[in-house]
Amino acid sequence: MGRQIKTVGVLTSGGDAPGMNACIRAVTRSAIYNGIKVMGIYRGYEGLINGEIKEFTSESVSNTIQRGGTILKTARSKDFMTDEGMKKAYDNLVAFGIDALIVIGGNGSLTGAQKLAAEYDYPVIGLPGTIDNDLYGTDSTIGYDTALNTIMDCVDKIRDTATSHDRIFFVEVMGRDAGFLAQNSAIAAGAEAAIIPEDQTDVDQLEQFISRGFRKSKNSSIVIVSESQKDGGAMYYADRVRKEYPQYDVRVTILGHLQRGGTPTAFDRILASRLGYASIEALKEGQRNVMVGIHNDEIVYVPINRAVKKDKPIDRELINVLGVLSI
Ligand code: F6P
Repeated sequence: MGRQIKTVGVLTSGGDAPGMNACIRAVTRSAIYNGIKVMGIYRGYEGLINGEIKEFTSESVSNTIQRGGTILKTARSKDFMTDEGMKKAYDNLVAFGIDALIVIGGNGSLTGAQKLAAEYDYPVIGLPGTIDNDLYGTDSTIGYDTALNTIMDCVDKIRDTATSHDRIFFVEVMGRDAGFLAQNSAIAAGAEAAIIPEDQTDVDQLEQFISRGFRKSKNSSIVIVSESQKDGGAMYYADRVRKEYPQYDVRVTILGHLQRGGTPTAFDRILASRLGYASIEALKEGQRNVMVGIHNDEIVYVPINRAVKKDKPIDRELINVLGVLSI
């Protein structure tokens, strides 16, 4: 059992993700239920440095579970990455009487939390909040399921045009350096192929997928491209196919930030609620410097430095599933 936690701070950092509000709500209410005071920190680490901090009550999080984005706002703080900025952030944690910090965010945000914990021997708990699903140790991150559903809905719509015009669409999705969104949205939307950073795809191979579809009576094709392709994503592949296979009528759609917004799915709300609740339980148990995740439907604690290594494997079976089902 570590030092007793009387006050926790909570912040969201990095890209917003649907379900962050459900998570802030769960942290706030679980803390209050346990007699722990909650300080809401605005604009991520930026707000921590600038002292944008106020006490949260149960009412502060009323009517938020269904809202996308983050009521605490968010930022990608460059200042926090400097020694001076981190010191200011730590000084404010002390000044506001915050005994432990709960950070809801993705890879960069949890890396920042880890550095703060190491530098000042300060208790932090990380909660995985990112549409990218790229944190090791948790099956899903908050926001991933909603983004996946949004992409699926968009691709369903794009397919109407693809079929009506006999076209090939290259649809670019987010995910940073990870292909989870691309691979799984391709399966969910019945796409012909997914181009992901975890797997090599060359243009000839791509043409095989496409022509296979065309031969088979389909006159259209959808290829989901993960944004992380260093060579230029969907535009690059579309240009190559246009140049080398001019018989195809090719279009590109880059979904962009619309993938990150919107009301969270039931899955994300439940995930966020369970993780927020579990973060307070973790602190009560004396856990420090771990990310709380869910693996095989059970709460797990993963050392933050392990969670952020950017090596969460993609299930190779998913690549086979897509390959077989798109013949
Ligand atoms: O990490 C979430 C994410 O949406 C990535 O998928 C994407 O690469 C990045 O953030 C975009 O960041 P920004 O909103 O700062 O442009």
